[in-house]
Amino acid sequence: MKDKLNKIEEVALQEAAGAVSEIELQQIRARYLGKKGEITAVMKGMGQLSAEERPLVGALANQVKDRLEEAFAKRQVALRKELMHQKLATERIDVTLPGRRQMPGSKHPITQVTEEIVEIFAALGFGVAEGPEIEKDFYNFEALNIPRDHPARDMQDTFYVSEDIVLRTHTSPVQIRTMLKHQPPVRVVAPGTVYRRDSDLTHSPMFHQIEGFLVDKKVTFGDLKGILTTFVNQCFGKNIDVRFRPSFFPFTEPSAEVDIQCVICGGSGCRVCSQTGWLEILGSGMIDPEVFKSVDYDPEVYSGFAFGMGIERIAMLKYGVNDLRLFFENDMRFLRQF
Ligand code: PHE
Repeated sequence: MKDKLNKIEEVALQEAAGAVSEIELQQIRARYLGKKGEITAVMKGMGQLSAEERPLVGALANQVKDRLEEAFAKRQVALRKELMHQKLATERIDVTLPGRRQMPGSKHPITQVTEEIVEIFAALGFGVAEGPEIEKDFYNFEALNIPRDHPARDMQDTFYVSEDIVLRTHTSPVQIRTMLKHQPPVRVVAPGTVYRRDSDLTHSPMFHQIEGFLVDKKVTFGDLKGILTTFVNQCFGKNIDVRFRPSFFPFTEPSAEVDIQCVICGGSGCRVCSQTGWLEILGSGMIDPEVFKSVDYDPEVYSGFAFGMGIERIAMLKYGVNDLRLFFENDMRFLRQF
């Protein structure tokens, strides 16, 4: 019995030393120390031994078992190390190779210009408001003093969703929504997407506007001129000339369109400014008392001004882009320039 145990130990140790993988080592271990292993079999057979022999053989069997366990554990550590060395030698990484580049995204030029305009007005104390693109006739037209028979209501310009729901044709309905919710003083800009049935070199059926308005006691046309002149100088440069030209909007009275000195020719006259030297950039005016009535502001107490501009137009003039559609085609060669 003792000889058998010693022989088993000897062979098991040899086999363990010769194992080349952890899996092989595990299989060898199972063959000797497992439930059906050889050592286990010897221990099970001890019942047939005499009373004197039994404890001696039992002690030896336990010693062999312990020694084998230790040997297997050591061999396992050694095998793992070997494997690691092998991997380090074969899976060498060339750290001088260039990394795989990720194409970073960037903000669309229209988003960039919108943020720039919002920032200029934020510095002048304006907050930001938003409204829905699918809008009630009431907010888009009625409350803005645009009568039923006004040309702006013509099917040619407006996308109708149903009889009294439209895709907003301008950001001015946000004026109404804001004034219905807040009492004066209010000072807000409202950027957003607007829709008109119009499409050519300078018009897109979907484009962007930013609205602005200020209501308080004793607001004058002088305030409008001051704020908008400041805006133009921040957006296009300190030395750019501005002019206010009489105009008409149903929701402002008096109304003015704002022109800036042509950014292409500097005012001497070119194709872009139709030889006038001026470029129209926004519509504005003092908020009409009729509008105040529809939001329950007292026109005897409050006055205010409003303005609205097309963001694509501002972006085109700022960057010298001559085709509006470039902003919507998402050609990377165009977008990457911003
Ligand atoms: N809503 C007008 C437009 O889309 C612009 C405007 C806004 C004019 C506010 C005056 C005051 O043309």
